[in-house]
Amino acid sequence: MTLKNHIPFIGALFIALLLFSCNRTVSEGKIRIGFSQAMTNDDWRRSMNNAMQLQASLNPDIELTIKDADYDVQRQIEQLEELISEKPDIIIVSPIQSKPITPVVQKAMDQGIPILVVDRKTQNQKYTAYLGADNIEVGRTAAKEIISSNTKDSIRIIEIKGLSGSSPAEERSIGFNQMIDQYGSARVVATIEGDWEKESIQKPLRSLYSGTVNADYIFAHNDRMAVGAWEVLRDMGLEDEVEIIGVDGLSGPNGGIQAVKDGILKATVLYPTGGNEAIKLALRILNKESVPKNNILSTTVINDVNADIMKNQYDRINEQQHNIEQQITAIKDLEDRYYAQNNLLKIVMALSSIILALALYSIYSIFTIRKKNRQLQLTNEKITVQRNQIEKIAEEVKASNDAKLNFFTGLSHEFKTPITLIISAIESLHETARDKGGKMMNELELIHNNSNRLLRLINQLLDFRKVEDRKFTLRASKTNLYKFSENIINDFKREAKKRNIRFKLTSNNEALEVFIDRNLMDKVYFNLLSNAFKFTPDNGKIEINIEDDADGNTVNIRFKDSGIGIPENDMDQVFQAFFKGSNNRKSSSGIGLHLSKEFVEMHKGSIEVKSVRGSEFTVTLYKGQAHFDENEIITEHDLIDTSIIDFTSEHLVDDNYLIQAPSDEAEKYTVLIVEDNRDLAAFLKNKLQLEYDIHLSDGTDAVEKALETIPDIVLCDVNLPGKTGFEICEILKKDLRTSHIPTVILTALGDQDSYVRGLQSGADLYLTKPFSYSILVQSIKSLLYNREKLRYYYTSNIHHIEDTDSFGNIEQQFIGKLNTLINENLGNSDFSVENLAESLNISRVQLYRKVKAMMGISISDYIGNLRLEKAKSMLEKTSLTISEIAYSNGFSSPNYFSTAFKGKYGKSPASFRKSS
Ligand code: FRU
Repeated sequence: MTLKNHIPFIGALFIALLLFSCNRTVSEGKIRIGFSQAMTNDDWRRSMNNAMQLQASLNPDIELTIKDADYDVQRQIEQLEELISEKPDIIIVSPIQSKPITPVVQKAMDQGIPILVVDRKTQNQKYTAYLGADNIEVGRTAAKEIISSNTKDSIRIIEIKGLSGSSPAEERSIGFNQMIDQYGSARVVATIEGDWEKESIQKPLRSLYSGTVNADYIFAHNDRMAVGAWEVLRDMGLEDEVEIIGVDGLSGPNGGIQAVKDGILKATVLYPTGGNEAIKLALRILNKESVPKNNILSTTVINDVNADIMKNQYDRINEQQHNIEQQITAIKDLEDRYYAQNNLLKIVMALSSIILALALYSIYSIFTIRKKNRQLQLTNEKITVQRNQIEKIAEEVKASNDAKLNFFTGLSHEFKTPITLIISAIESLHETARDKGGKMMNELELIHNNSNRLLRLINQLLDFRKVEDRKFTLRASKTNLYKFSENIINDFKREAKKRNIRFKLTSNNEALEVFIDRNLMDKVYFNLLSNAFKFTPDNGKIEINIEDDADGNTVNIRFKDSGIGIPENDMDQVFQAFFKGSNNRKSSSGIGLHLSKEFVEMHKGSIEVKSVRGSEFTVTLYKGQAHFDENEIITEHDLIDTSIIDFTSEHLVDDNYLIQAPSDEAEKYTVLIVEDNRDLAAFLKNKLQLEYDIHLSDGTDAVEKALETIPDIVLCDVNLPGKTGFEICEILKKDLRTSHIPTVILTALGDQDSYVRGLQSGADLYLTKPFSYSILVQSIKSLLYNREKLRYYYTSNIHHIEDTDSFGNIEQQFIGKLNTLINENLGNSDFSVENLAESLNISRVQLYRKVKAMMGISISDYIGNLRLEKAKSMLEKTSLTISEIAYSNGFSSPNYFSTAFKGKYGKSPASFRKSS
């Protein structure tokens, strides 16, 4: 634990100790005195309690507890029991009655608690000590006072006794009667049993006086009953006839001394409470001093002789007592203040110590923190320097890596164009050489095969980077899997035949259609088959089996060969990049299978390998399209018309397949080739010029050339000096004069973004390099064919196309506008093609070429056709004369109209009307 962790604990402990030491001990070392008082409803008892408390307060060690039994014997017993259980050091008891209290007093003694009996006694002597005046003596003194003051011959006395069963009552009576009996002329004429209170005696006294009893003296066992007796006598008018003597002799306005002074009582016998003496005696007992069993307090008579003196004495004593009490209070206050200040001082000291400790610790901490901060700063600076170095190195590494990769990618792209050219040239030579046969043919085939192989390798390298960069986006389209597979294996049939390898394709569902990215899946097939052919010896066997899981949602494509197989150890690495089998002695890039796996997984499918007598690769694909994202499905029109393009003829031109180009030179279509690679441009021109009129542009004047020639088709590269192919395409498609021209984008950019960009620019076809010449030719033909179809549509719907935006098609808008202008001027035989071109905002030649390209006829023929069509419908629907119809449709004469009509429809207008 650090110092810091200790500080709160030490502080708390320190304060606790200080606070503890500040408090006055509550019980430890205290003298616990329990006092069971009989009652506190009279002054004598109150005076007793006061005297005890005062005496106790002189000794701070005394803890005095007073329990008031309130004149209830049972209660006093219970309270004594309570005191016993609290185990005080000593118990003082003033019993209400002797007998009932005796056992519990004895019990305290038995339990070893010293017990001091005061005033009234218990029945036996089983207590530690007794303190009180001698009540027999009290009785005697009272009797003596009567006898000595008497002047009569005989004395009649009424004795008013205290509570029966309490020792003072018994003893006072004994002493009194003893003395009276000794004096012959005195006698007790009546006895009243009181209970120490005046109410108990007044009624019996009244009845005594109302009867025969008469007395000279009344001796009451205490002053309260004595005053009560006086009240009765006063009420009866006898107060001067009887002398009353009481006991207690208390000072104060209601006390016996005052009653004597007031002439109410003849005398009172002093019966001291002994409160202070009781405490003193208790301390002595606890101090184990030897004390007498009976401690008798002295008594005396107070009468008119000494009442004043006694009163004065008591007043003085009371005054002194009062002073003492005040001093005690003052001392207590001082003491409390002392303790409070003492405590405060200690707390202040404690807090000061803590503050000092904290201050020291803070200073220590500040130094430590500063030191640590300095260290951290240094470390931080070091780390920053290191990080910067690492970043710099990483940047350098990245830059060098990027540079290498860019170089490598660029180079690979660069390779593609020459290789395309080489392959195309070889294909061309191959055609020529085929007829001649022999050695040249073989060599050409060798060059051809190896060029293709080289191209595949380059493509694989480029694909590998694309896969690493996660740049591939799947473009899946619905494909007949059997036909697709069949097309691919055609490429390998020649090799199979040459090496006498049994090569076959089987399927349990030849009609099965799946969603695949044909380009990627073609690469998977090619890799797996190349692999199989590489490792299968001559006369071996290679099989592709397509198994449609009819009940399930998958299809398995198995590629099985009878080759050398794959060693068990290599199995789990087969699909890792740059893997080469331990039993493979042939050259290998090691990325083919890795790419195959990536491509299959892009289809959410899986590829597995087994090796039992040869290798068996199983590609599992899902049926349907639910497992693809929406954007992975090619939903828009497929740019390559797959019904026309034959995948197998990728490198071999099949003459039978080509649509024969028109033989008539004049009828040749025009092709504008926009390509800055002179070799490729020359090659394409060379190949295509047999069938087409070729115009060339290196890209700098592509738009101008297109506007000038209005070609039938534009082939356009993307990366060009000046505008990109996409931009050129966009301009042409937006211009009314050229918007009808089919555009083919030729590019090395095979990524999704470029493809989308191509589509957005309005290109009709997007061919990635290296493209197969045969596919290019076929695509050109297909686009021209589509244009023919469109042309047919336009010419046969001349009337229905109106000047409206609703088609959203620039061509239809063009024809709509053209038709409106022509229709508006049908009756005007002077309306010329120039007027029309002017209204359309294009040149006469451009209008001529556009209409020719779109509809295959000249603009004047088009206007003529429109007039004839209109006239034909008027012949059918109206009753206008033939000459009216001829003029209203802009024919200069009815004769010319008839000739033209017959030329087009084979009938004269008159016979047409008749027949319809
Ligand atoms: C007070 C008192 C005194 C009397 C004493 C006897 O309660 O009644 O008047 O002297 O008790 O125990």
